[in-house]
Amino acid sequence: MPSRKILTSASLSIWMLSPGPLLVFFSLCLCVSGYSERDRAVDLMSKYPLVDGHNDLALQLRILHNNRLSQVDLHKVSKVATDINRLKEGHVQTQMFSVYVMCGAQQKDAVRLTLEQIDVVRRMCTEYQDFELATTVQDLKNSEMRRKIACLIGIEGGHSIDSSLPALRMFYQLGVRSMSLTHTCNTPWAESSSKLYDVFQRQNNSLTDFGKEVVHEMNRLGMIVDLSHTSWDTARAVLKHSEAPVIFSHSSSYTVCNHERNVPDWLLEELKNNRGLIMVNLHSKFVSCRDEANVSHVADHFDHIKRVIGAESIGIGGDFDGAVSFPQGLEDVSKYPALIQELLNRNWTEGELADVLRRNFLRVFEEVEKVRDKLSSKHPSEVHIALEEVQNPCRLVLRRPDHKILTAELKTSSRAEHGSAGLPILATFFLLSSLFLIE
Ligand SMILES: *[C@@H]1O[C@H](CO)[C@@H](O)[C@H](O)[C@H]1NC(C)=O
Ligand SMILES: *[C@@H]1O[C@H](CO)[C@@H](O)[C@H](O)[C@H]1NC(C)=O
Ligand SMILES: [Zn+2]
Repeated sequence: MPSRKILTSASLSIWMLSPGPLLVFFSLCLCVSGYSERDRAVDLMSKYPLVDGHNDLALQLRILHNNRLSQVDLHKVSKVATDINRLKEGHVQTQMFSVYVMCGAQQKDAVRLTLEQIDVVRRMCTEYQDFELATTVQDLKNSEMRRKIACLIGIEGGHSIDSSLPALRMFYQLGVRSMSLTHTCNTPWAESSSKLYDVFQRQNNSLTDFGKEVVHEMNRLGMIVDLSHTSWDTARAVLKHSEAPVIFSHSSSYTVCNHERNVPDWLLEELKNNRGLIMVNLHSKFVSCRDEANVSHVADHFDHIKRVIGAESIGIGGDFDGAVSFPQGLEDVSKYPALIQELLNRNWTEGELADVLRRNFLRVFEEVEKVRDKLSSKHPSEVHIALEEVQNPCRLVLRRPDHKILTAELKTSSRAEHGSAGLPILATFFLLSSLFLIE
């Protein structure tokens, strides 16, 4: 506790300078009692500013402003829980911004919508001096030294890649560094914890062969696998197959609140074996299982998870602007010091809290980068999902034409045309057909 040491030496110098012991005693009391638990929390967070695993400001920008950044001043945004001023007040140094698009876009325009959300986060983080776009652990550390807020980009829901590994790779190129395998809908290759949508139902196949290929490709790229929102079976299968540590970017303890979005103890144990991280979600519904909660309920999750797998496996993923109700005293991103204060009151050590605030995430991200480096000689996967697994009429399949069939078709249609008027049309048809046969 260096700050206390400073106070003690300040008190000592007062001792030496003061005329009488009574005055010295008075000064000492003032100093010690003036240094509250709140100050301790804030000091600690200044030294170890928070890496927050999940934030949905970009979703709110779409809903409220149709992504027109020019309409808002990100320093102070109304009707949301996140803006630059409050991130600074809350000592948030790195924010994983979710580029979430709703499950209704699956099999439709999920890829376009995700690109648009990436665009708005990239604009936020390049047009504002307070932000910096980050894609590596080193970037996060550099931003911290420059007193900037680092932005990480995370996809929420595997439906965003439309079952395409090339699309996954291109998202990586745009700066995406994590992806949760599902949101509230199953994908053709992974299972959601939610039964909200009845798409891609499956039995005993929570992670298909293609799903395993997605995990391996994410390992190869250096993209963090996020298990928040997946079913427990899917999470277990991923933990068996991932070479790199994984995260739950915004989930809490199922033992403390038995919500399907939370993580049971047996799964926490497997997460620990993987050296992964659970970043505790603050949404009231996941914290107290009710619409109201307070900071004690949140701290109960931290205490419980620490008992089961240790502070070295815990982080914070607030879920601000993604969920609707938050605990009293933790209503927006400026309130994080209240949580740290509560954990200090519960005898969490400063080392444990430094881990929770940032060091654990940096370690996991670093290990993900190491696995990427280890796999650097591996070629990009050319596995395609089987068409029957996607069952999507919107999916075009482009391939070389079968010339025998084409010639037969041409003969039939030229007989039907009875003359030269149809020839230019036929020629165009032949030209196009020789490029692609579109089904
Ligand atoms: C799924 O697996 C469980 C146990 O692993 C087994 O009892 C059940 O019969 C299986 N169901 C199907 C449809 O294969
Ligand atoms: C939080 O709420 C519970 C009741 O649900 C109460 O017992 C507890 O004292 C509250 N804690 C704080 C810090 O307000
Ligand atoms: Zn979510």
